Amino acid sequence: MKFLAAALVAILAGCAAPSGEHAAHVHQPSQAAVIHTAPAADTRVMVQFPEMLRTHTLANMRDHLLALAEIQDQLARGAYDRASDIAEQRLGMSSLGLHGAHDVAKFMPQGMQAAGTAMHRSASQFAIVAKDASVTGDLKGSIAALARVSQTCVACHAAYRIQ
Ligand code: HEC
Repeated sequence: MKFLAAALVAILAGCAAPSGEHAAHVHQPSQAAVIHTAPAADTRVMVQFPEMLRTHTLANMRDHLLALAEIQDQLARGAYDRASDIAEQRLGMSSLGLHGAHDVAKFMPQGMQAAGTAMHRSASQFAIVAKDASVTGDLKGSIAALARVSQTCVACHAAYRIQ
């Protein structure tokens, strides 16, 4: 613990990270950078959700990320059908009931609702591309369609927050 504190002091003082066997253990030098620079202003719109719904939504979000990881894994294996099914069921239009989208939507500003719809649509579109790829082997097209799904995650995250 002592060396960690010493290392942190060294970094905060603007010195280079210490070399030697302990250097590898200072695994978050980026924290020092965060301390040195003022955080960028948070321009995201704060949306108020009831506590239960907020917890539920964040759990859904973590499943979205898990689904993306699983889809990528299946694509890498050439298992296009599986990738397609995961996308449709966990992120696509078929997932709306699963996520209680109807309950959540009424707390969302219109732009956020649209961002959610864009995600569901793009995931269903990916599902179709990936199904086709199970015949054509179009990996590039599948990855491009998956990138469009990720872009919808990024777009909503850039604009809104709930905590
Ligand atoms: C309609 C808007 C919207 C879309 C679309 C969206 N998210 Fe989110 N997501 C949010 C909001 C709002 C938060 C909370 C951020 C905050 O308050 O700082 C969040 C948080 C998260 C979190 C953090 C969860 C936690 O436990 O804190 C993960 C992971 C995440 N989203 C993944 C995804 C992925 C992956 C996608 C796309 C497949 C996605 N999200 C699409 C709005 C969205």
